[in-house]
Amino acid sequence: MIPTEPTASPHAPLTRSLSWPHLIALGVGSIVGTGILTLIGVGADRAGPAVLLSFAIAGAICACAALAYAELSAMMPAAGSAYSYSHKVLGPGIGWIVGWSLILEYSLVVSTVAVGWSGYAAPLLEAVGVPGALVKGPELGGIVNLPAILIIAVVAGMLALGTRESARINTVLVVVKILTLSLFVLVALPAFDASHLTPFMPYGFSKHLGPDGVERGVMAAAAIIFFAFYGFDAISTAAEEAHNPGRDLVIGILGSLAICTLVYVLVAAAAIGARPFADFAQSPEPLALILRQMGREGVARVVAIAAIIALPTVLLGFLYGQSRIFLAMARDGFLPTSLARLGARGTPTRVTTLTAVIVAVLAGILPISEIAALANAGTLIAFAAVGICLITLRRRQPEADRPFRVPGGILVGCGAVAGCLYLFISLPTKTLIACLIWNLLGGAIYAVRGRPGRR
Ligand code: ALA
Repeated sequence: MIPTEPTASPHAPLTRSLSWPHLIALGVGSIVGTGILTLIGVGADRAGPAVLLSFAIAGAICACAALAYAELSAMMPAAGSAYSYSHKVLGPGIGWIVGWSLILEYSLVVSTVAVGWSGYAAPLLEAVGVPGALVKGPELGGIVNLPAILIIAVVAGMLALGTRESARINTVLVVVKILTLSLFVLVALPAFDASHLTPFMPYGFSKHLGPDGVERGVMAAAAIIFFAFYGFDAISTAAEEAHNPGRDLVIGILGSLAICTLVYVLVAAAAIGARPFADFAQSPEPLALILRQMGREGVARVVAIAAIIALPTVLLGFLYGQSRIFLAMARDGFLPTSLARLGARGTPTRVTTLTAVIVAVLAGILPISEIAALANAGTLIAFAAVGICLITLRRRQPEADRPFRVPGGILVGCGAVAGCLYLFISLPTKTLIACLIWNLLGGAIYAVRGRPGRR
């Protein structure tokens, strides 16, 4: 997955060593994670049993976005993913905004997943004597979430050792993850009790503020659950390393999203049917808790241990993707090339280390739902931009060579853009304000540094 020849320049081409099975593994490895293992609880808290509907809505919007990614990544395989497409199709200004949003997405996903990982690891660590104040962040009554910080350090270290080695470990862990979720479904689904589905929509459909100051509703939950579905976009950052991008990227993106959606539908139905949603809505390890409440202690422990072992694949996928996006932005003169320089083992060690330090600090202190919501905001901007690129290119160059042509392309593009906008405005108001501040900062940097080539 990495350049085999160590090279110092971010302008050096990456080696083509990946085919579609690798890309499906990379996709599933990046998609299945904290969303389904942890945020399903937050989603249930925001929507009640209708979180099932939230899953369907978020999944359908992601399917439109994934199709748009598949067409564009096959047409112009570039490591910068949504950033590169927007830069080429919509111009450097929009390209910068999208790249800036992707930095938010990729960095905060790492923080969120690390906190989700810690939710499963903390009970085991406390059982061996680690003080509770050191395994959770301030919002849960702790001082610092040390396990979240440590797991980021370990994964960043693995990446620095070389992505080829990481890719092998990734494939094994992906299998562990799918087997674990299947085990959960096998144990929980037979206990399905339809009475847990009523009332189905206790908080209504669109986002609104509850008396406790929390914004709820099916769309508020969908805006959070959206987190569970993305990661397929990380595949497109491997475009320059795919043997046959036109075929491999399309199979990788669509195949991994299809597999994950199927698994999610089953897990969500099993969870909601097994217990009243309020029983697990606040839990940092909802799937393990559901199993314990069903009296299946042993299976709960297996699920918790498997989550601990396998969740780091998401960290790997996103830290990897982050470094590729930095590389692409540095090539275009948007970021200092010294930052994107490749280390002795052919990996961009500097940018990986810098990202890891920042996201580890955030993971140590911030609550999971807030970081996830902000990661979603960045991702939604990028997905909407990819939808706009698809529509623009279909109009501007209808006859251009497209190794993969999405059936009903313009309609799918409009679905992606409209869906992402609706999810975006359904995010917590606090998140929208934070996203605005992030973009104002990005805009200021762009204004000061100017357009590359004009400096
Ligand atoms: N989809 C990834 C997860 O749920 C980001 O962890």
